[in-house]
Amino acid sequence: MHAVGDVVVDSETLHSRVADLAGEIARDYQGKDPLFVGVLKGAYMFLSDLVRAIDIPTEVDFIAVSSYGAATASSGVVRLLKDLDHEIEGRHVIVVEDIIDSGLTLKYLLELLEARDPASVEACCLLARERHQRGLVKYLGFEIPEGWVVGYGLDVGGWHRDYDEIRWYNADV
Ligand code: IMP
Ligand code: MG
Repeated sequence: MHAVGDVVVDSETLHSRVADLAGEIARDYQGKDPLFVGVLKGAYMFLSDLVRAIDIPTEVDFIAVSSYGAATASSGVVRLLKDLDHEIEGRHVIVVEDIIDSGLTLKYLLELLEARDPASVEACCLLARERHQRGLVKYLGFEIPEGWVVGYGLDVGGWHRDYDEIRWYNADV
């Protein structure tokens, strides 16, 4: 619980990058009434800041998946815990995710949503490990090196989501 380490992305840098992404998305989706799909729970804070910074009409829905449980290593299996409330056929969908590690979670979600005949599906992720599969994500906040991070929605075992910055979490401390 007390192994939170140095700052990886400070609050000011975080908010400035979120504003940039919001600007890009607003330009690309003008007139398209995009549906933002937040991936619970990690993306809730990012999604909330992102849509507030976007100056075109937006709709929001949530989906929940589990690939890690309480561990900090992927089980390799993605489970759908909560589906969307919206039908997405013909909609422009933007999946909003906290972090891409192996890409397994995002790949699963994109395939699930694409099978429902939306007009388009893109991904917007706050963070990605440097070795991530670049093709999966159109809008990316920051690339970070290996190591578990917490804050701004990201957790370890449910804790530390509430920081307005990204920090390292060191399990050995
Ligand atoms: P992937 O499926 O291997 O790409 O893992 C991505 C998912 O794992 C994300 O949705 C996060 O919930 C979780 N995750 C991966 N790395 C971290 C981290 O450093 N902190 C918090 N959650 C993480
Ligand atoms: Mg997640």
